[in-house]
Amino acid sequence: MQTLPTFDLVLFGGTGDLAMRKLLPALYRRTCAGQVCADTRIIGAARSDLSREQYLAQVKSNCEAHLDGEFNERMWESFARCVDYCKVDAGEDLDYAALSRLLEGREDHVRIFFMSTAPNLFALICEGLARHSLVTSASRVVLEKPLGEDLVSSRQINERVGTAFREPQIFRIDHYLGKETVQNLLALRFGNMLFEPLWRRGRVRHVQITLAEDVGVERRAQFYDQTGALRDMVQNHLLQLLCIIAMEPPATANPDAMRDEKLKVLHALRPLAGNDARNNTVRGQYKAGAIAGQPVIGYLDEKDVPPNSVTETFVALKVEIDSWRWAGVPFYLRTGKRLQEKQSEIVVTFEDVPHALYERPEQLHSLNRLVIQLQPEEGITLNVLAKSPGEGMRLRPAELSLDFAEYFNGQRLDGYERLLTDIINGNLTLFMRRDELDAAWAWIDPIREAWQQYEERPKAYIAGTWGPAAASSLIVRDGFVWRNEL
Ligand code: BG6
Repeated sequence: MQTLPTFDLVLFGGTGDLAMRKLLPALYRRTCAGQVCADTRIIGAARSDLSREQYLAQVKSNCEAHLDGEFNERMWESFARCVDYCKVDAGEDLDYAALSRLLEGREDHVRIFFMSTAPNLFALICEGLARHSLVTSASRVVLEKPLGEDLVSSRQINERVGTAFREPQIFRIDHYLGKETVQNLLALRFGNMLFEPLWRRGRVRHVQITLAEDVGVERRAQFYDQTGALRDMVQNHLLQLLCIIAMEPPATANPDAMRDEKLKVLHALRPLAGNDARNNTVRGQYKAGAIAGQPVIGYLDEKDVPPNSVTETFVALKVEIDSWRWAGVPFYLRTGKRLQEKQSEIVVTFEDVPHALYERPEQLHSLNRLVIQLQPEEGITLNVLAKSPGEGMRLRPAELSLDFAEYFNGQRLDGYERLLTDIINGNLTLFMRRDELDAAWAWIDPIREAWQQYEERPKAYIAGTWGPAAASSLIVRDGFVWRNEL
């Protein structure tokens, strides 16, 4: 792998969960891989008054905890030499001046400001950076989700961030696009002739995308209760995956060519408002249950969740894309916390043969399916029918499988590692453009408004199941089932 250009990365929210669990361990791994030059600087910035030593101690224990067997003292020493800390209170001018001193004389290096803070601070921080002339022509800003809570607030943030950074300097991150299998989906679609002729109405019967988690709200209940699954997972991860599945082949690998195609998909989503939103979405909230045999509490009993909360921890939707390619092909999306297991997958189910020659299993089992597994395993499986051994021509389901870890047994990059290297290299392909974000919010907002208008309360589901029964009905009424219910 190529060495990265020397960079200065300022990590706002540098003591937070994301920085400690994902970003700093990702940078440590890239250092171990020899990609990070010794001259690079990684500056944690947060409100706490910490010395560099105190910060390093926190970073070290988190790297140890989150990198399992990969941590070693020698590599830690070289990584630690790059790490520094600066106390920054977003509204405090003196703090920006201190940061400015740390970055002085390094104006020629790639400079990255990573906003891993509450979104209401993004604009304030960007304005502070601009006021103190910290934004150089080689600067980039990285915005973590959620970017706002609706179209209006998202536009306001983008507007203000846009006064400090130009659009090509803004990297709106969606860590799902950093996942290896998501990029493999692009390779599968646009690097092979095999699937593309089948990738359309008339050949594809329906598509399912499931992002299931077994964890609950963990320590983020305050944030989560204000957000809910629709804004936490659908507005970004699920819609982005939908775009990758549904978009037309871009003419080039240029970032804007791909983002233009994704935008067209977002614009072609059939609006879900009023009664359409009610009929085509299901909200759920988990009650006490058990995950892998261990009892877990219900959402309303989680710390920091108000006892009367009506926030959804699960959502399922039926989505249609009004385009030449996809008219009439339903896309079913679902995501939830405290489901039976962690599983993220995309299932493309193809049409049945027009005329069955041989004895076959019942119809739903006989359909060809392409299963793209994102987590926990990464791989692709094609379900076909094959002759079962022995006399006669009896067909049985069989699988053609590609397990990425097994087949390409080199070191794999975590989503954030991949995206961080893209940011450092200035590659915008896997980041959302502002118009994409606007289009996603414009589609999501009416769903929430309909839920509010009809006082749609979330349906209860037991932790450790696959969500409320209504989520099964949503797809069964069209004659299909979720793959886990086959
Ligand atoms: C985040 C959400 O964006 O994605 C979390 O805010 C969720 O609520 C997480 O747990 C899931 O990511 P992954 O990569 O573990 O599937």
